[in-house]
Amino acid sequence: MQYNPYLRFIPTLIFMLLLNWSSAQKTSVQNIDTNIEALMKKMTLDEKIGQLLQVPGDISTGTDVQSDDLLKQVKTGMIGSILSHTNFDNKIKIQRAAMESRLKIPIIFGFDVIHGYKTIFPIPLAQAATWDIDLIERIERIAATEAGADGQNWTFAPMVDISRDPRWGRVMEGAGEDPFLGSQIAAARVRGIQGNDLADKTTLAACVKHFAGYGFTEGGRDYNTVDMSEQRLRNIVLPPFKAAADAGAATFMNAFNTLNGVPASMDKHLVTDILRDEWAWNGLVVSDWNSFGETIIHGAADNEMDAAAKCLNAGSDMDMTATTFRNGLKKALENKRVTQEKIDEAVRRVLRLKFQLGLFDDPFRQLDPTYREATLEKPEYRDLARKAAAESMVLLKNEGGLLPLTPEGPFRRIAIIGPYANSKGHKDYMSFWTLGLGMREYDSTKVVTPADVLKPFLEKQGFEVTVTEICLDATCSERDYSAARTASQQADLVIVCVGEQGFQCGESRSVASLELNNDQENIARYLYPRKPVVLVMFNSRPMVFPKAYEKASAVLLAWQPGFETGNALNDVLSGKVNPSGKLPMTFPRNEGQIPIYYNHLNTGRPQQDQGQMWTSGYLDSPVSPAFPFGYGMSYTNFSYSEITLNKSKIRPGETLEVSVTVTNTGEVAGSEVVQLYIQDLSADIARPVKELKGFEKISLEKGAQKRVTFKITDKDLAYWNNELQYKADPGFFKVYVGGDSRYVKSNSFELQAQ
Ligand code: GLC
Repeated sequence: MQYNPYLRFIPTLIFMLLLNWSSAQKTSVQNIDTNIEALMKKMTLDEKIGQLLQVPGDISTGTDVQSDDLLKQVKTGMIGSILSHTNFDNKIKIQRAAMESRLKIPIIFGFDVIHGYKTIFPIPLAQAATWDIDLIERIERIAATEAGADGQNWTFAPMVDISRDPRWGRVMEGAGEDPFLGSQIAAARVRGIQGNDLADKTTLAACVKHFAGYGFTEGGRDYNTVDMSEQRLRNIVLPPFKAAADAGAATFMNAFNTLNGVPASMDKHLVTDILRDEWAWNGLVVSDWNSFGETIIHGAADNEMDAAAKCLNAGSDMDMTATTFRNGLKKALENKRVTQEKIDEAVRRVLRLKFQLGLFDDPFRQLDPTYREATLEKPEYRDLARKAAAESMVLLKNEGGLLPLTPEGPFRRIAIIGPYANSKGHKDYMSFWTLGLGMREYDSTKVVTPADVLKPFLEKQGFEVTVTEICLDATCSERDYSAARTASQQADLVIVCVGEQGFQCGESRSVASLELNNDQENIARYLYPRKPVVLVMFNSRPMVFPKAYEKASAVLLAWQPGFETGNALNDVLSGKVNPSGKLPMTFPRNEGQIPIYYNHLNTGRPQQDQGQMWTSGYLDSPVSPAFPFGYGMSYTNFSYSEITLNKSKIRPGETLEVSVTVTNTGEVAGSEVVQLYIQDLSADIARPVKELKGFEKISLEKGAQKRVTFKITDKDLAYWNNELQYKADPGFFKVYVGGDSRYVKSNSFELQAQ
């Protein structure tokens, strides 16, 4: 072979190319502002407005988006982002079209990755019931990895709306009623979604939603009015948003609702005064679905030009569904309702996000079919889904230690009965977010149902097992009840699987009644008498089921557990996993108690016993909930020592150490969420009877004990008062520690003035 003198230069050439590529990689990420300004100088007004438009993808359009019209718009730079698009090949086509545009500005793909992407995890409210912050972060890491591999760059999560109203269908998406737990979870989700580098293909831009107050809609009706004091907004609603912003969340999303009369999308006080100025956060704010346009329907904007001007001037940047900005923003500029600077500010935020995501360096970095194939639905993802689902389940009753079911027990014949014993075609055990989005080609074989696992597992242990699916149609019929009675007559023990359908959970799924629909609760009544019943509830929100609860010897909340439903349920019922879930939301006795939550004010006339006249209560119901915030049982028992404090007084800046010793006094190992609450007894204004200020999930072998110490400073005692000062009032406090918000040990301390 003839020697080629230039061969020796190839290694150098490769090195130079790599150096150039990596420096280009570094340059575009490190010199983002320079690159943005260079681009802004070239952009026309139409191209700038185009970056502020987000259009629906194939989930919403119902078609695989090959439409020439969309590709043409992309080629002319008239679109900045596409949401809810599932077809992978189409995403490549769309991005190629963007690369044919004059300035080659890449498209950013947004998607609702709410509790997993291709591997479906328990719903977020169930994940909150684990109180396991590290686990929640790991779940988001996997969800982002799968979504990133499938070409998504941006997820519309975490939803951090605090809510005290289980009638609201979207409580399933959040972390429940408490701002402290909600803040820990919000930050964990942002860390999991965004990882350490937005330009990594396993990460997505997070989008903190819905800013703000959406969980406090009147009547629990979705999209309804929200009215609250600035003090409640800042003490209850905003902390998880602030925690997410502090965790580095790249984007925020407006809420649909009005807050004190102002539609959130055009609420300058929320988006600019608080988010951008007070919190010094300058990321991209995207509307919710046509929420810019809905300002007109709210009656707070005259037309699309007025709506576009008000939303942009409030500090909101991108129009999800695009129409209001497409039709109104240029007119607003022409009519001097907005300035070019204001438009440019919003455009810069969009471009900055695209640079941060590395999309300018490699628009196809998350559109690699080989990487996608190798990354989606790995077995270890399902392992975590199984662990999370089991850890989220909450044991509410276990008379006589009926659970766990073991071969040594007194039962031989087990009947598994109910609409959720083996539901395949009904798309259950998850939420509408995974059914409608990301699960378009719904494959029911991916869900492991209770019967799939329990029947073979129990039979292998020597039990006889029957599965009787009933109440699958609109309601439970006499035929259903008689089938249940027959099956239970021939069994020693009955496992009843009831709850909500997957499509009953989530947005636009508010209910006036929290009772089990279709008369499912009657199943327990029609069972053959004197058969011990294990009630398993597949719920997406606090439910009201007093009759079934009374009839059952054991009650397990399974929530909507996702793909690994059957395995997780079996792990708990068999005792392989000792349940450790704790309620992230209060469970009311009845809808009349709503709103009901643990961190309420004492009032001047707190009611101790029902019927006590001239006190704050009802004639026809106790004021106490069915199950309190933070409640959940275990197969073992935990005892708490009295609380010891390292001092009885602290000054600002000093640390109070609150300690208890927790002992596992039962027969099996278990985990316990040790919860710390405070009560401000003498503030300038009335303060809640309890506020969660710390928790630690501990695992203890049988007979073992652990000393748990929490540290408190005056910063943990601060709150927003009506003068909008954030401060702690000197005075007396109580401190509580326990395994829920009701059964607690207590002690007292004083916060002294400076
Ligand atoms: C919906 C929801 C929002 C979601 C968006 C895109 O209406 O309110 O949470 O991210 O539209 O699907």
